[in-house]
Amino acid sequence: MTRHFLRDDDVTPAEQAEILNLALELKRDRFAQKPLAGPQTVAVIFDKSSTRTRVSFAVGIADLGGSPLIISTANSQLGGKETPSDTARVLERMVSAIVWRTYGQAGLVEMAAGTTVPVINALSDDFHPCQLLADLLTIKEKRGELAGLTLTFLGDGACNMAQSYLLAGATAGMHVRIASPEGYTPGEQVVADAAAIAAQTGGSVALFTDPVAAVTGSDVVVTDTWVSMGKEEEKAARVAELGAYRVDSALMAHAASEALFMHCLPADRGYEVTADVIDGPQSIIWDEAENRLHAQKALMVWLLAKNAA
Ligand code: CP
Ligand code: NVA
Repeated sequence: MTRHFLRDDDVTPAEQAEILNLALELKRDRFAQKPLAGPQTVAVIFDKSSTRTRVSFAVGIADLGGSPLIISTANSQLGGKETPSDTARVLERMVSAIVWRTYGQAGLVEMAAGTTVPVINALSDDFHPCQLLADLLTIKEKRGELAGLTLTFLGDGACNMAQSYLLAGATAGMHVRIASPEGYTPGEQVVADAAAIAAQTGGSVALFTDPVAAVTGSDVVVTDTWVSMGKEEEKAARVAELGAYRVDSALMAHAASEALFMHCLPADRGYEVTADVIDGPQSIIWDEAENRLHAQKALMVWLLAKNAA
């Protein structure tokens, strides 16, 4: 069975730790491993816009000795005339892995079921697991250990980042809190899955409506855009309903002293976070963005080795 990475809990706690340690190694010695030498090609497909994901995969694949093939769905048959599994069956004859940023998680599941090469979720409406590997790597660099830390995500609790924090944070043994208003809570099944993982790892998951209660004592405070890709028409309603969850310096003052602030970017300063926080001393957003490169390289090295074994 081919191993894929479609959601954060597609790896066990031990496997997640292995990938993060490999990422630290690759960050120290960037060109040490060339599993894609040949060069082998990796297809990186985008149904949605991207800056960080596109660049970090393209550079990471090249660092590993491979050749990235960036495909915009708008100029391909996928999505319009061809199913994900038919596309995958063609690509697998020529490429070593498929990375795909898309809308519905179901398309990724269909693609993965229909192919022998690993499929990596580069963001769906439900999850952003590559970003979470980078985020956990960044927290690990700053704090040493992940297990036992309390992390609070504020804002759209139903978005891909919040749901990935639940799964990946629980896998790492963290205490994950989501603070969101009614109508923006994470999926019940995702919360249940994360709680089941947390019960094994010593972590926990908790949902809050009160942003101050959620942030109090947190080691890491996180937010994301209130208007995820595909939700642009809801912007006015979202700004009105999520306003109380803006991360500003008054809210940060309730977190642990020297708490970290994170944001996957792109950010709307003045909406989900004020400029003084995202551009201030507690913010680690640039390290977080750079770590996309190292974390995804580790993921690719790890997946290619697993699937070769
Ligand atoms: N954080 C993130 O995935 O950024 P991009 O949308 O620019 O890839
Ligand atoms: N939640 C955001 C993340 C962007 C990287 C979105 O889906 O647009």
